[in-house]
Amino acid sequence: MGSAATSPPPSGKLTQEELKRVAAHRAVELVETGMTLGLGTGSTAAHALDRLGELLASGALASVAGVPTSLKTEAHATRVGIPLLELAGAGRIHLSIDGADEVDPDLNLVKGRGGSLLREKMIEGSGERFVVIVDESKLVPRLGCTGAVPVEVVPFGAVHTLGLVRKVFDGLPGFSARLRTVPAKAAGAEEVPFVTDNGNYIVEMFFEDGIRGDLRDISDRLLRITGVVEHGMFLGMATTVIVAKKDGTVEIIN
Ligand code: 5RP
Repeated sequence: MGSAATSPPPSGKLTQEELKRVAAHRAVELVETGMTLGLGTGSTAAHALDRLGELLASGALASVAGVPTSLKTEAHATRVGIPLLELAGAGRIHLSIDGADEVDPDLNLVKGRGGSLLREKMIEGSGERFVVIVDESKLVPRLGCTGAVPVEVVPFGAVHTLGLVRKVFDGLPGFSARLRTVPAKAAGAEEVPFVTDNGNYIVEMFFEDGIRGDLRDISDRLLRITGVVEHGMFLGMATTVIVAKKDGTVEIIN
């Protein structure tokens, strides 16, 4: 794994939003005319979509096509003029660009706190290069340090599946899991399950001080649960991580 710090610090501190934009723009510099791209989801990936739209509109990029990782990204990309393809018809995906919720020292990721982990994993996992764009707040010593690790489950028997997920971490101090909910739109109910673009629910797993076990083993055990569709640990998938730092430098980790 190599790492390089680039760019002189600008004067004045950048906000977190500006850092996200810096990382996103740096990733878009890797895009070449004719590429098919995996288009990520979230506030950082949104800056990459905007930049791609600008480059296409100005003619700096003659043509690219994108495969969106969520319905939100599909709408955003359409708005800014990025031509879209279905995963099945995309052929080679040369480069995917997406944010992450956490990045560990081995470039394993937590993704999906925005709820799009399944399509993200399908698309980014089938591409040639997966470039992750983050501000430095996303760098963690262990996955699961800063919030939920999401698991997408089918709605049928979701509470039963939640129980099976809990069993994987039986007795682990500080572990908890719950179904992700959102405020109900209809009167009467206060909270309803969050529903993904695929019509599924999300189980959120919380770890007191991050996941200390063997991540591959934990991944296998979760994926063996009938009712679990996918989880938000992206292990060994990122090929490059672009980190925008508060001191104004950008670190590129390969
Ligand atoms: C969505 C994701 C996002 O990439 C992740 O949540 C990071 O989002 P943001 O860039 O808004 O911090 O995995 O499912």
